[in-house]
Amino acid sequence: MVTVTAEYRDAWSAEFGIDRVGSLMREILGEEPDGVWSAPGRANLIGEHTDYNGGLALPIALPHRAFAALRVRPDRTLRLTSGQERDVIEIDLDRPRPADGPDPVHGWTAYVAGVLWALESRGYGPLPGLDVVVDSAVPLGSGLSSSAALECCVAIGVDEVARLGLGGDEDGRIILQGAAIEAENRYAGANTGGMDQAASLRARAGHALLLDCRTQAVRQIPFDLAPSGLEVLVINTRAKHSNNDGQYAQRRADCEEAARILGVDLLVEVAPRDLDSALGRLPDDRLRRRVRHVVTEIDRTRRTAALLEGQELTRETFEQVGDLFSASHDSLRDDYEVTCPELDVAVDTARARGALGARMTGGGFGGSAIALVDSDRVQDFADAIEASFAEHGFRSPEFLVALASGPAARA
Ligand code: GLA
Repeated sequence: MVTVTAEYRDAWSAEFGIDRVGSLMREILGEEPDGVWSAPGRANLIGEHTDYNGGLALPIALPHRAFAALRVRPDRTLRLTSGQERDVIEIDLDRPRPADGPDPVHGWTAYVAGVLWALESRGYGPLPGLDVVVDSAVPLGSGLSSSAALECCVAIGVDEVARLGLGGDEDGRIILQGAAIEAENRYAGANTGGMDQAASLRARAGHALLLDCRTQAVRQIPFDLAPSGLEVLVINTRAKHSNNDGQYAQRRADCEEAARILGVDLLVEVAPRDLDSALGRLPDDRLRRRVRHVVTEIDRTRRTAALLEGQELTRETFEQVGDLFSASHDSLRDDYEVTCPELDVAVDTARARGALGARMTGGGFGGSAIALVDSDRVQDFADAIEASFAEHGFRSPEFLVALASGPAARA
């Protein structure tokens, strides 16, 4: 057995985040921010690759957040910089937008500019130019919604500095969510399904967010594991994950093709009891497996929510929840084919050491996994996973403790 020390990624306190982006604004842009806003990354408990099929998802917001310092400018220029890349990028809010002409805006800056453009296209504008500095405790490209956290801290900040009045209630937050999704789909070029932005803007501390992705309706489900002596351990495998490298889009296209053949708008319309007959009408094995994952995953999510909303949260309840997590991973590995060796090793190791359940979380193809484990054994799990990674010759993973946290807000 290799001896190792597991590495944890800490969340930032509000003071730390405010100081970090505030100092960067003073140092790099020579300005004092009007304010600092933050928004969380998320860990999805279950309900994976269901959002763009109109199904259910059950994310929690992480304590790890992205921070944005904003300062209103007297013109229509966005001046952006970040803690990662200290270059200053200027974007004219009136210049042709990426979809309208040759493109101008790349990389992370598209998430920020895209939110402003999407708000303006919904009639919330013209918005003022802004100085923006962002930095984040959400590990980038790790399947924990670092991009949604970035979009949403900017969205909630712009809402306040431009006095749009959307952040204060659920309906307004759904509009901000739509703008953040459009920024990601249209300007950053990742055709994702919206769960991440919903979690970042609408999750509540101590709760999991049961999201109906067809109607955007949510239900807050109490999710406090401490009294049960349990924790959700997040394992960032550090295997590269991206939602815009074609694989994610390919899965989405498979689902759309299957829906067309089955004569439904979205796969959520296939009820679990009709699954066998639906599978019989699909021409090839790949589409059959994709549909089987989506239909059974929506059902597992419904069952998980029902267990968590039940009267008494006993050990047995969590064992059943853990079994659903594990079944979800197996389905994502075998039917949806979005796991990778690092995710499978993390999950297999956690399960072999006695986790109640473990699964990949987020888009897959790299990124992160979660394990439902006894709090007093967290370190043991982390060390075992770290050792398995070393034995397989994988990069060392990092670990995060996922306490269900609050949504995007002024920091
Ligand atoms: C990524 C996407 C989400 C969702 C998940 C898979 O995180 O951004 O919209 O589709 O993958 O559940």
